[in-house]
Amino acid sequence: NTKGFIFDLDGVIVDTAKYHYLSWKQLANELGFDITLTQNEQLKGVSRVRSLEIILGWGNKTLSEEAFEKYMAEKNENYLSHIAQMDEGEILPDVPKILNYLQEKQQGIALGSASKNARTILQKVNLFENFQAIADGNNVSKAKPDPEVFLLAAKQLNIKPSDCIVFEDAVAGVTAANAAGMISIGIGSKETLGHADYIFNDFTEIQTSFIDELINR
Ligand code: G6P
Ligand code: MG
Repeated sequence: NTKGFIFDLDGVIVDTAKYHYLSWKQLANELGFDITLTQNEQLKGVSRVRSLEIILGWGNKTLSEEAFEKYMAEKNENYLSHIAQMDEGEILPDVPKILNYLQEKQQGIALGSASKNARTILQKVNLFENFQAIADGNNVSKAKPDPEVFLLAAKQLNIKPSDCIVFEDAVAGVTAANAAGMISIGIGSKETLGHADYIFNDFTEIQTSFIDELINR
């Protein structure tokens, strides 16, 4: 019995939301306004382009196409300076335990992330070798909640979507997994991820017996 287990990156494997936030906040400050942590919630799982559009909306700003590109590049440079400091210590609790268990059970393991920096981050935290397939912001044209990134991950694993299970922390990501016809597992709060098939606060709450159930269902 082989299932495909697809992991989102930001907020599931590592907590990079804090770095995205710092970088977006700095950019907003340059433009003369601020963004709050509550607003940052709405940026989770959202592509870089869409994030900047949303932020400009909050600040009531419009930018020329050229300036938009410039700010996107600037944000990413700033973000990369935070990423450069990352190491294995940033892997969220019990993620390696689950990855190792899935490997032991010879399951398909893929990444399904909106980030164009996904490979860099996996390398920084030394998890790159754990993934058989990587679908990320460089391979897709439609951002979550569109299912494209997860469907691509399933295709790379050569496992049909209905045999795939997605771990997601973002509202848009759970919606994307559901739209792909996959089992969605929300990592976070019941308040925001109520549309997921299962919800856990984090991987420490996921027992290997639950993984077995998913494999055998
Ligand atoms: C993930 C994060 C978002 C981020 C997006 C693009 O979905 O949750 O906050 O904007 O990836 O990341 P990137 O590294 O390409 O800017
Ligand atoms: Mg995420």
